Amino acid sequence: MMRTRPLKVALLGCGVVGSEVARIMTTHADDLAARIGAPVELAGVAVRRPDKVREGIDPALITTDATALVKRGDIDVVVEVIGGIEPARTLITTAFEHGASVVSANKALLAQDGAALHAAAERSGRDLYYEAAVGGAIPLIRPLRESLAGDKVNRVLGIVNGTTNFILDKMDSTGAGYQEALDEATALGYAEADPTADVEGFDAAAKAAILAGIAFHTRVRLDDVHREGMTEVTASDFASAKQMGCTIKLLAICERAADGASVTARVHPAMIPLSHPLASVRGAYNAVFVESEAAGRLMFYGPGAGGSPTASAVLGDLVAVCRNRLNGATGPGESAYAALPVSPMGDVVTRYHISLDVADKPGVLAQVATVFAEHGVSIDTVRQQGKDQSSSRSGEAGNEGEASLVVVTHRATDAALGGTVEALRKLDTVRGVASIMRVEGE
Ligand code: NDP
Ligand code: HSE
Repeated sequence: MMRTRPLKVALLGCGVVGSEVARIMTTHADDLAARIGAPVELAGVAVRRPDKVREGIDPALITTDATALVKRGDIDVVVEVIGGIEPARTLITTAFEHGASVVSANKALLAQDGAALHAAAERSGRDLYYEAAVGGAIPLIRPLRESLAGDKVNRVLGIVNGTTNFILDKMDSTGAGYQEALDEATALGYAEADPTADVEGFDAAAKAAILAGIAFHTRVRLDDVHREGMTEVTASDFASAKQMGCTIKLLAICERAADGASVTARVHPAMIPLSHPLASVRGAYNAVFVESEAAGRLMFYGPGAGGSPTASAVLGDLVAVCRNRLNGATGPGESAYAALPVSPMGDVVTRYHISLDVADKPGVLAQVATVFAEHGVSIDTVRQQGKDQSSSRSGEAGNEGEASLVVVTHRATDAALGGTVEALRKLDTVRGVASIMRVEGE
């Protein structure tokens, strides 16, 4: 039976994502009504610039007073696609206080204040859904929250930022410069309002915090996530990666410790073998591996950014939340019962690719190898190539040139690797540490 009184939706934000949400709500109104069991009506659209032309949206719905919109009292669902911390946080809590459920795409806010927002939703007996916050169109939050609720997830690893994947892919495949690729990603609507959030890894770290919290049933905040951006990745890093049969991706990696007593969450650029499925994730696509005890390895893949893909996830949440409302029910809330501590980056175990500029003379390799051994870091491979052979015949006694030494290690803790690099820097024969890159996915 179709209910005739429509469910009223307040749309907060009508930018890249919000405009697509409004478009799909309008063009698919009949299908949405049939799937939900009641019509859904756009009751108001809050924006910053009221005079901007917004195609397909009744100008009478536009307001700059988002607070008044969420306080109206007749709003069933608030869709928050403004982004950032404030006023989004206050608007969402106000929405709960006034009886609305909330759908949001705001990973920054959820990573920072997810616990408080979940608590506010629970107090008001309303839903908080945020599928679009991680992985754009890819169903990821709901599979983790619901489909895998009976399993034990041990690892989540993937590419969760479309902008940086777009840039790295362009740099690797076309040799494009960093700024040129970033400008293109911004023009395509992939980047955050401040793209620093993308390129410095804050956006991916927020997503890692959300994923780790849901996957491990614990609370992981943005500050718990080790974060390194991709602005330092150079063409020469890509060349080194190629020599190893690898490419470079910005990865988010959330792991349960082997003893199950703690978790880690990190975001950083890493080399991955070209044979790994993540290596072939192109453009603004995202891909996430979830490894769980019973299911084994699952891969989620799809468009990770952009207005229309993200709106798809928002609309999916809207339908779910509306159905819950009609049934007088709510979906799952926060599950943080495991209360696992988040271990520091030093405890993370992985492999490393280290590029050193060294004096090209007898004994240097042995010196370098000794430093690795002293810190308990086992070397897998070493490759040396001459760098500056024009002024001297390198390698000959009394003719000291410079060489590039590339060391790839076996698995070691980040703390041990850090100690090794610190000691290497103190060697007279090590002229510089050109790059350190973790190697994942093997
Ligand atoms: P935009 O910057 O394109 O849009 C933001 C919208 O919010 C604009 O319509 C803006 O109004 C409005 N706005 C800003 N401040 C206020 C305010 N104080 N009161 C009312 N309205 C306000 O952002 P996106 O659409 O790209 O992103 C929205 C959210 O979705 C963010 O949380 C983002 O992280 C998330 N997201 C984005 C994805 C993407 O690919 N773009 C993918 C996944 C998630 P005006 O139009 O007048 O400027
Ligand atoms: N700026 C984000 C990205 C949007 O590039 O992945 C999707 O969350």
